[in-house]
Amino acid sequence: MPRKVTVLLGSPRRSGNSETLAVSFAEGAAKSGYKAQMIRVNGLKIGGCIDCRRCWTNGSHCFLNDDMKEVYASIDKSSVITFVTPLYFYSWPTQIKPVWDRLLPYFSPNSKVDLSGHRAVLIATAGDDDDKCFDGLRKSFELACNYAKWKIAGELLVPGVHEAKAVSSKEEILKQAFEMGENLKPR
Ligand SMILES: Cc1cc2nc3c(=O)[nH]c(=O)nc-3n(C[C@H](O)[C@H](O)[C@H](O)COP(=O)(O)O)c2cc1C
Repeated sequence: MPRKVTVLLGSPRRSGNSETLAVSFAEGAAKSGYKAQMIRVNGLKIGGCIDCRRCWTNGSHCFLNDDMKEVYASIDKSSVITFVTPLYFYSWPTQIKPVWDRLLPYFSPNSKVDLSGHRAVLIATAGDDDDKCFDGLRKSFELACNYAKWKIAGELLVPGVHEAKAVSSKEEILKQAFEMGENLKPR
């Protein structure tokens, strides 16, 4: 059975820059024996964490009953989690931030699923030419991975792509995304 990687797509723009890189990443991952489950979070109903401290008290991850169930079901069966996102105001877009917050049940003392030792990947795109624009996002990702005890298996941060198809002509970048997937290699 192929190993699984959950690929969370944070952009509201279908087939835009970040999603294009996600496709290359998934193709590379497939070459390494990983099956990518792409989840486009835009359009899913995922509320923000309400800090009710009722994780797992109704038998499942979260007390809130919404589309986050789909994300939990995928992550539970994955050994790699990939966050794919455009940069919005130097940070995570509204679409994907609640997903991060709703991962809290995995880190609660009564968690029924242990994700420590899993691997995480960040793929992000931005319009600015200066890659310093990613400083905040990168720091957020790295601190969160450290908290979660996840190993970072790759970061691909691509500046200078504003229009939806801008990344499509950047073959070297697409190759890097492919190789990042390929390098996952089952352990
Ligand atoms: C609301 C909004 C905020 C944005 N904020 C930034 C930003 O802070 N820095 C930046 O370089 N680009 C910013 N951008 C541009 C996007 O990050 C860029 O176009 C990205 O490649 C879009 O990826 P996508 O095609 O996958 O949606 C913003 C775009 C939008 C719509």
